Amino acid sequence: MPAKSSSLSVPPYVLDRPNGAPLDPPPVFSRLRMESPVTRVSLWEGRLTPWLVTRWEDARAVLGSPAFSTDPTLVGAPTFKEDTRQGPRGFFQNYDDPIHATMRRTLTREFMVKRVNALRPAISSLTDELLTDMGKLSGPVDFVQHFSLPLPSLVICELLGVPYEDHTFFQAQSNVLVDFTATGEQTAEAFGNLAEYLLGLVQKKRISPGDDLVTRLAEQVDAGDITDQDAADLSAFLLFAGHETTANMIALSTITLLNHPDQIPYLLGEQDQVAGAVEELLRYLSIVHGGLRRTAIEDFIIGDVTIRAGEGVIIPVHVANRDPEYFTAPDDLDLERTEARRHLAFGYGIHQCLGQPLARAELQIVLPEIFRRLPDLKINIPMEEIAFKQNTAVYGVRELPVTW
Ligand code: HEM
Repeated sequence: MPAKSSSLSVPPYVLDRPNGAPLDPPPVFSRLRMESPVTRVSLWEGRLTPWLVTRWEDARAVLGSPAFSTDPTLVGAPTFKEDTRQGPRGFFQNYDDPIHATMRRTLTREFMVKRVNALRPAISSLTDELLTDMGKLSGPVDFVQHFSLPLPSLVICELLGVPYEDHTFFQAQSNVLVDFTATGEQTAEAFGNLAEYLLGLVQKKRISPGDDLVTRLAEQVDAGDITDQDAADLSAFLLFAGHETTANMIALSTITLLNHPDQIPYLLGEQDQVAGAVEELLRYLSIVHGGLRRTAIEDFIIGDVTIRAGEGVIIPVHVANRDPEYFTAPDDLDLERTEARRHLAFGYGIHQCLGQPLARAELQIVLPEIFRRLPDLKINIPMEEIAFKQNTAVYGVRELPVTW
């Protein structure tokens, strides 16, 4: 999209959360949601000016419409760096139907609530082991390295049949994939490394199968449903999406709860209370802070704005999830809030998070257990010294020194 002469008056898309309120969305977006809910923002110093859609209802309308594509290689696609446009199209999330639907179908059975519930005992025992091991250390201990990162990594390894010994490798590739400062070349390399690693694993599973998702994908290859490369790309995406997001959610939820100690007893209540509390944390934190990104493939009207075919759109779900029209006192954390389930933290429409039953199961098991086992848990540094990840697709913390 060419630069517009008016682009100077177009506010830049900002990722950084406000100083002093690192768990809130940038205040400029909350203001725009009131004054100009569908408006242009600038990327690439004004050379790209996609639309920003900040109201909850409008966000759902865009995410639920076939008028938008997730293809990041389209000319108007709102990528954060100009050169990432030249990278590979990548994971199946970046495809529209019917290709997207075909790939998603190969995985849907794996994430059915019943199948995910069967993983709950394994999640509980991994939680127990990690908390026991961490408890043996004398603080301060980095909660990210000792708990919030290894737990979902171990769970996704168990589900996929990936050896956990390789975690340093796959966590490093994931770090590049979420990093908005990485060049297109670096992103392509990380994507290629992960896919190549999983391609090797698909071939190994054919020789020695296991009771795991990669083996089941290898069987789908043998049945002629998908190719070896599809199986590798699908499992690479799950390996990446399956640990990075939940790891950040666990760490940020822990910080949030320590900042609202009066609400911790509610989290330790009955299962339905825990489930509701997790929905509120998902809404309140909405960790996908780069926003969901789309490009119109047909004209689309929202209110008095027409988004033209070819124009990009950013949907910052962390802003839509604080829309006062849909959530009472949206900037307050309220674990008892009943309308939290309406949140868009897992997206909406055909690309809505496939792994959400697993993410929910992990959060529902892990969060109460942390506070049951470590009732005196404390962050060892002041809030303003915590290293939040700003330039990444998923908000979180780099490290979190804690004592108990
Ligand atoms: C708290 C944790 C998580 C959050 C907040 C989250 C968030 C999201 C969001 C917002 C989307 C939609 C992206 C879009 O519309 O552009 C998405 C898609 C996806 N997520 Fe998650 N996710 C989480 C955990 C997981 C886990 C644990 C897995 C897998 C094990 C996973 C796998 C996926 C997949 C495969 C898609 C693409 C679906 C598609 O395009 O059809 N996610 N996630």
